Amino acid sequence: TVVRTSMQDRLQTLLPQPLQAVLTEVAQLAEQQGWQLYLVGGAVRDLLLAEQPPKLQEFDLVVDGVHTGESEGAALAQLVQQRHPEAQLQIFGQFQTAALLWNQDPVLGTFAVDIATARSEFYPYPAANPEVTASSIRQDLYRRDFTINALAVRLTPHRQRQRQGGELLDFFGGLEDLQQRQVRVLHPNSFIEDPTRIFRAVRFATRLGFEIEGQTERYVRNAISSGIYQQTQGENQKTPALQARLRNELKYIFKTDYWPTALKLLENLDALQCLHPQLNLGQNWWKQSRIVLRWHHSFDPEAKAIPQWLLILEHLLLELPPELAHPVAITLHLSESSQQRLKTLATTQQALAQLLSSAEPRPSLIARQLQQIDLALLLLLAARGDLALRCSIWQYLNYWSQLKPLLNGSDLIRLGYQPGQQFKQMLSELWAEMVDGTLRDRATAEQWVQHQYPLM
Ligand code: CTP
Repeated sequence: TVVRTSMQDRLQTLLPQPLQAVLTEVAQLAEQQGWQLYLVGGAVRDLLLAEQPPKLQEFDLVVDGVHTGESEGAALAQLVQQRHPEAQLQIFGQFQTAALLWNQDPVLGTFAVDIATARSEFYPYPAANPEVTASSIRQDLYRRDFTINALAVRLTPHRQRQRQGGELLDFFGGLEDLQQRQVRVLHPNSFIEDPTRIFRAVRFATRLGFEIEGQTERYVRNAISSGIYQQTQGENQKTPALQARLRNELKYIFKTDYWPTALKLLENLDALQCLHPQLNLGQNWWKQSRIVLRWHHSFDPEAKAIPQWLLILEHLLLELPPELAHPVAITLHLSESSQQRLKTLATTQQALAQLLSSAEPRPSLIARQLQQIDLALLLLLAARGDLALRCSIWQYLNYWSQLKPLLNGSDLIRLGYQPGQQFKQMLSELWAEMVDGTLRDRATAEQWVQHQYPLM
């Protein structure tokens, strides 16, 4: 529930003192320039929802200046940095925003203050990247995704009305939506303008335990049935950015523990169509995803081979026919190795199935094949393949790949062999014999080498 105390009180009770001091200082600097300063977005939403001090690390500020078309946001950030040389300053010219980063500061800890210049974004055509022009705070908030993200707190005193800072600006009913616990867009075209918002709606609804408001859900469904996929595929220079943002939204979702709930909601909304119209989660998909995550946890506990979000995303795209999964991976800007896995999984799986179905294949033959495959692909194969394949991969990961060699290069030298190219082959053959269980100790391994590679 939302407590209706003044925002000033909320800021004072919920934010650590040193952070408040920085925000006050930024507001004073803005005021000295004759600008208004607002706290907007996620921080306001989270402060209103919080019962305990929330762990906020990002503060989005908006400066409403005199509209000279110059970047007041960047100018203000520079003024702040002069007072706080310990903060890192980043300026993003294109969007007239600047960020100040405090990284493990002894007093302030790690947090970021983003300062943007009030802007309205007009969309020259649907699904395009926002173009930026200067405008006032109301318009700045109007271009945002949901009412709960379009609340602002004025940090500077109101000039005409002689009010203190701390006033909550709620133009679109965001406060009530927070109370009703619902995600609602500000206007009907929101999802057509920016399809990534479909994924954001689901992410916020799931994360906060909110509903997607009824009319908003209809807008989602309309956007999808109006062929949003085709729009996002169009040949225009804005699409790459859109696809990258879509990938980021998927990443945010799949990084969390609540991803299954979010994905079910996306499925229910037909939103997977945004990735590809033929993408449907088959019956087995959920079962396989539990396997893939369990194996990931066991065999790649530090996620060195692949992060969880990417593993789930690849597993998702693998529900498409092989010839479609790869192009989707390219449009989503997935890495070369991801693309490679999506391209090769089907044929690799077939080749392994063939090997496993031949009459009593030597374990070393199987192990050698598996040795060529990267761990992430092995996890996907284990989850998506049949039981025989899963057992072989299990054996490979747990046992064959862990075998301690009975002999090493120095042993071969001791036995009288000349170091060189051949060592690699000898050691590899020794490994194969161990996998097949024919060599179990050093003495037999030495005899085996001497027999296979007689010294002149
Ligand atoms: N935004 C938007 N449309 C998008 C992405 C972002 O309108 N496709 C707006 C939202 O209003 C949001 C703000 O930009 O409040 C900042 O975006 P982001 O940092 O992603 O959102 P937060 O609300 O801060 O979310 P989080 O708490 O997850 O950081």
